[in-house]
Amino acid sequence: MTDRYAVFGNPIAHSKSPQIHRAFAEQTGQDIAYDAIEAPKDGFAPAVRAFVAGGARGANVTVPFKLEAFALADERRLQAESAGAANCLKFEHGRIVAENFDGAGLVNDIERNLHYPVADRTVLIVGAGGAARGAVLPLLQRRPARLAVANRTADKARELATFFARHGQVEAFGLDELGADAWDLVINATSAGLHGRGPRLPASIFHDASLAYEMVYGKGLTPFLRAARLAGAHRLCDGVGMLVEQAAEAFAWWRGVRPLTGPVIAALSVPLD
Ligand code: ATR
Repeated sequence: MTDRYAVFGNPIAHSKSPQIHRAFAEQTGQDIAYDAIEAPKDGFAPAVRAFVAGGARGANVTVPFKLEAFALADERRLQAESAGAANCLKFEHGRIVAENFDGAGLVNDIERNLHYPVADRTVLIVGAGGAARGAVLPLLQRRPARLAVANRTADKARELATFFARHGQVEAFGLDELGADAWDLVINATSAGLHGRGPRLPASIFHDASLAYEMVYGKGLTPFLRAARLAGAHRLCDGVGMLVEQAAEAFAWWRGVRPLTGPVIAALSVPLD
C-alpha cells in the first residue's frame, strides 16, 4: 500500500519538497505519495489531524507553521526540543512525533558536500530567529573553535547564547559589535534583503578562505553573498544543499533508507551569479 506524506505551509506552491521526496522514493524503490498542502493560516492543527486520520505516515512543515507543529506534537525529539520548532512529523501508533532536521541538513551540507569540517573552525551565525536557533546545537556538536551569533537586535543574540549555554559556549554580538575578527564560516540566517539590502556586515568578518553560506536557496547571488564576494570570501554557497539534506534526514527517519543527495542537489542548483 502506498504510504502518504506531505509538506504543510502557507504559501506552499513554491515548495521543492514534493520533487525532492519523489526523487528519493524513485531512487530507493519506496512506495510513497508526497503532496504539498496549503493549510489555512489559522487552521494548521485541524489540517494535520485530518491528514493523520486519513492514514498518512508523516509530514514536513515549513513557514509559518514550525512553532505550531512543535506545539501539536505528543513527543519531541532532541533537535526539535532545542530549536523550539519542528520541521518534520512522524505519525506512529496514534501519536505525533516531532523533530527538526534543518540544523542537521545545514551541517551535513557544509561537511559532506562542501568538504568543510566545522571542527576547530570559527563560525559566525548572522541572525537570531528560528533559522539561527535550529543551527546552533548541530554546529556546537561539531566542536568549532568558536561559535558566535550576531544579530541586529543584540539582546536576541544574547538570549540565544544563554539558552544554549548548557550545551557549550556561544558568543553573542550586535551587528555593530562585530569588531575586527574574521571568521572561517559565516552563515546568513536572517530574512534580510533577498532583493534589497542584506544585513549590514563589516567586510572584516570575511577572510580569503571564508565560506559564506546563505541559508536561502535558488535566489542566485543575494546581497549577503555579493557582500561576501566583495570582501574576498573564498567560497559562496546557497541553501539548496541544506534543503535536500534535511529532506534526506526526514526520509531516512520515516523510511529507514538513506537516499543519495548529490543528484537531487545538482538538479535543483541554480548559478550564484
Ligand atoms: P526565521 O524563522 O526565518 O529565522 P525570524 O524568526 O522572523 O525568521 O527571524 C528573522 C531574523 O532576521 C532575525 O534575526 C532578524 O533580526 P532582528 O531580531 O533584529 O529582527 C533578522 N533580520 C530581518 N531583517 C533584517 C535586516 N534588514 N537586517 C538585519 N537582520 C534582519
